[in-house]
Amino acid sequence: MRLAKYLAHAGVASRRAAERLIAAGRVSVDGEVVTHPARDVDDSSRVAVDGSPVALEAREVWMVNKPPGVVSTARDTHGRPIVTSLVRSERRLYPVGRLDADTTGLILLTNDGELANRLTHPRYGVEKTYRARVAPAPVPERALRALREGVELDDGRTSPARVRQLEPGVLELRIAEGRKRQVRRMCEAVGHRVVELERVAFGPLRLDGLGRGRARRLTSAEVERLRKAARG
Ligand code: URA
Repeated sequence: MRLAKYLAHAGVASRRAAERLIAAGRVSVDGEVVTHPARDVDDSSRVAVDGSPVALEAREVWMVNKPPGVVSTARDTHGRPIVTSLVRSERRLYPVGRLDADTTGLILLTNDGELANRLTHPRYGVEKTYRARVAPAPVPERALRALREGVELDDGRTSPARVRQLEPGVLELRIAEGRKRQVRRMCEAVGHRVVELERVAFGPLRLDGLGRGRARRLTSAEVERLRKAARG
């Protein structure tokens, strides 16, 4: 297995971040610094980062129903609560993508860097489903059509999305991209402000009764469904 992939599987970092660690000369194999991410390693290799040995650990994926005010970064410099503290695991888990602090709902945490990368990279097209309450209500058909076809944002046009109005002023949006504050910016671009935003599904997984602030580990069947969805 390639060294960068090994580090991602070991939960050290995402594949791209692992490549950067390697390029920076922080990774050694059998006692020798390696700076090429394609170096082949296997279970018998002694891999270390900054001198600390790395072992392939059991992979875990958890689902959390994030409450408002909790941040989805691995740590917060403003002292706000962080999403990883809602999960009781022996492993060092990190969030799969981000939700804004004031967005609620489904966020995944894992130590599987490779899976995390596939679930968030637009190339694999894994859909995330959001429910947005917007103002003013209702949203006219032409604005819905614009959201479906793609709207111009300052970082480029959005890809086609599936959008429907569940009730006046409540939209369900399914998008396969994950740009910063994307749903809020898309709605603003068609003249509607998001007043409440919840992610209700990530690929094939739904929150389905998991309470606010609660977390549960995914079953192996659920992880398999996620992997399938991320196969692109
Ligand atoms: N889009 C947003 O605007 N915010 C989120 O937290 C997620 C998607």
